[in-house]
Amino acid sequence: MVRMTEPLDAALRPKTLTEYVGQERLKEKLSVYLQAARGRREALDHTLLFGPPGLGKTTLAHIIAAELGVNIRVTSGPAIEKPGDLAAILTNSLEEGDVLFIDEIHRLGRVAEEHLYPAMEDFKLDIVLGQGPAARTIELPLPRFTLVGATTRPGLITAPMRSRFGIIEHLEYYTAEEIATNLLRDARLLGFGLEEDAALEIGARSRGTMRIAKRLLRRVRDYAEVAGESVIALERAHTALDKQGLDSAGLDDRDKKYLETLIHRFAGGPVGVDTLATAISEDALTLEDVYEPYLIQLGFIKRTPRGRVATAHAYDHLGLPVSGRDEDGMGIYTN
Ligand code: ADE
Repeated sequence: MVRMTEPLDAALRPKTLTEYVGQERLKEKLSVYLQAARGRREALDHTLLFGPPGLGKTTLAHIIAAELGVNIRVTSGPAIEKPGDLAAILTNSLEEGDVLFIDEIHRLGRVAEEHLYPAMEDFKLDIVLGQGPAARTIELPLPRFTLVGATTRPGLITAPMRSRFGIIEHLEYYTAEEIATNLLRDARLLGFGLEEDAALEIGARSRGTMRIAKRLLRRVRDYAEVAGESVIALERAHTALDKQGLDSAGLDDRDKKYLETLIHRFAGGPVGVDTLATAISEDALTLEDVYEPYLIQLGFIKRTPRGRVATAHAYDHLGLPVSGRDEDGMGIYTN
């Protein structure tokens, strides 16, 4: 049930909000809520964190627990299949004030979710004993805990679930500078040299995503070490990242395939996501969750009621001519 993370990542994981880079507006609010909860000696309100994968939702959940000085239990929506799984977690391991972190909470089964409602609201668990007419329900009191839920798909969280969270916050993509700041910190902690412009270059090609940046840093470091360099410089970052198939905006071959298919096969759109997914042999959910959020963030595509549309920025980025560009340079279709 408890997810194992790489020891390296765990060692680098920030322990306080101050050490956590970026997400400034979120940190500002959260620090007030944490301070208030600590002051009242209460559990923090249930908190829902949403945003694209790899932005540090799990890290933030650990920080929340550390800042409150409580334990954290980590599980995920798909791991909780039966109400019994939920009962085991809630009754065995949680103490007063602890954080229960449920990753991918949108994938919680419906029955488990319904059992979670009274646990969140009244800190009690209804357990059904026996079956049929002889069945009876007993009510088990629970410690007051904080549920921290994380999801990449807030739209799939049911309304009754959503309404039980007192704090609902969105994580944003990081800027290249924020990512660079964090990579320089990682390099310092791990004891290897990383030049600032090299860190920025990795930051610029990481799709605004901390997890991707950390992975790319490890690969760039491999190249530098094998080349006998003790410090990672810009030139090495450039060549190593090129070898990863990443362009200047951090797009990989799959992203480019998405854009080129949209532009060449569907005249830049609008085209339905299912059609586009079939054309590039992906499933629509992967397009929606993995590829599109960053392409939208870059302003390369738009989701419209009639389907996906490539913008003039996408044409520019791919070095293709655009005809019929509209005023704001976004969106090239005029019908
Ligand atoms: N690890 C993941 N996200 C992070 C962040 N925003 N700051 C520091 N370390 C992180």
